[in-house]
Amino acid sequence: MLELDDIQSGVLRPRPAPYVATYIALRIDDRMAGRELIGRVANVVTSAAHPESPLADTWVSCALTYHGLKALGVPQLSLDSFSWEFRQGMAARWKDLGDTGESHPENWEAPLGSNDIHVVIVAVSPNEVRLEAALDRARKTYQTMTGIKAIWRQDCHALPNEKEPFGFRDGISHPAIEGSGIPGTNPQEQPLKAGEFVLGYPDELGGIQRTDPELLGRNGTYVVFRKLHQRVAEFRKYLKSNSRDQNEEELLAAKMMGRWRSGAPLALCPFHDDPALGIDSERNNDFMFQDDPNGYKTPGGSHIRRTNPRDAEIAGVARIHRMIRRGTAYGPLLPEGVLEDDGVDRGLMFAFVGANIGRQFEFVQSEWINDGVFFGAGEDKDPIIGSNGGPASFTVPRKPVRRRCVGLPQFVVTRGGEYCFMPGLRALRWLAEFEG
Ligand code: HEM
Repeated sequence: MLELDDIQSGVLRPRPAPYVATYIALRIDDRMAGRELIGRVANVVTSAAHPESPLADTWVSCALTYHGLKALGVPQLSLDSFSWEFRQGMAARWKDLGDTGESHPENWEAPLGSNDIHVVIVAVSPNEVRLEAALDRARKTYQTMTGIKAIWRQDCHALPNEKEPFGFRDGISHPAIEGSGIPGTNPQEQPLKAGEFVLGYPDELGGIQRTDPELLGRNGTYVVFRKLHQRVAEFRKYLKSNSRDQNEEELLAAKMMGRWRSGAPLALCPFHDDPALGIDSERNNDFMFQDDPNGYKTPGGSHIRRTNPRDAEIAGVARIHRMIRRGTAYGPLLPEGVLEDDGVDRGLMFAFVGANIGRQFEFVQSEWINDGVFFGAGEDKDPIIGSNGGPASFTVPRKPVRRRCVGLPQFVVTRGGEYCFMPGLRALRWLAEFEG
């Protein structure tokens, strides 16, 4: 059984819809102040127990980077027991992540990617009033403390159309996790072993991830934050200039995503959108790909089939690369129909939650999003979020001849991000009190 009362609420619980969220990054300049901060935060963070409580959809989470654990004085032996990718940090992994050109860490928003980010506090709520109350509780933990400095903040909010900035419904597909009490969204997917998402439990390969001391890692998880700028005008222009009419535009968008903008999956309605299906959480993720081996309905290269090939024939095993996602949008909606960039920053704060940054997040990013070999499509990349530009292409299988979209522009630019560890509640207290 998962020890839900020791796992931070933000790990397992899908974010509310609609939502507002704030990310705050803190730097620890004084070790003892840092420990006191973590002790105070432990009293503000809620656990994943009682997910049915009406107040459980507002929460504050706390995660630390490798440099954050170091700033608290965690001994090197313990630090070394965390995963290699986490210890490197996201910026150092730019090559594997495809963060080249404009997405290169040199161009990231300061201080993202620097060694100054130590603690990341995230508050999520269905509305502003409750978010403000949660933020107030969080702020009280550090505001008056010397030796702790808030160095970055990102506010996020659901857009008025409740879609992500490109116009697609998101937050639909989530894995089922054994013992979490939170049902998955695809009735055809067997629940995944808890160890895929939480340290200290058996995973799909039979292994158990542990840290030294064990208590530090137990009931914790890795969290990857990534600020992804979306070129909405560019995306709209691309669709328009590669379609003859509005219907074709919508079909091309759906082929690139694998779902219509309403959220309805091509797997269940390949020819026309079905908005009622899009919002029906009982049906909108109830599908596999086995009946569509050639991708005539859902192209193998579409965003959702790449990032979760389900039971499709691929090189490898899809189940060991699953992830929990917590995307929240930032910036204003680009008004419908506008095709010129207004220079305003908008996009997605993407958050990955999982027990294995390398095998889950990095694998999906490098092998599935930025490569096509795993399903036999050579160097094709994800048409929506791949590090495209130049000769990148996307294939829409169809009869009698497939459609090749060549020279895809880059629609998503990385603005920064970090690899963090979100400890269990007992571990937070340990971090506040350990000797050394
Ligand atoms: C700006 C960037 C991104 C946008 C606009 C975006 C958009 C979407 C949308 C609209 C969906 C379908 C609805 C849903 O199931 O929630 C989706 C699904 C998904 N995305 Fe993304 N996404 C982005 C970045 C990423 C990244 C960086 C990853 C992983 C490294 C990722 C992994 C996934 C996964 C695993 C799914 C679920 C697939 C499934 O189970 O069907 N996404 N995304």
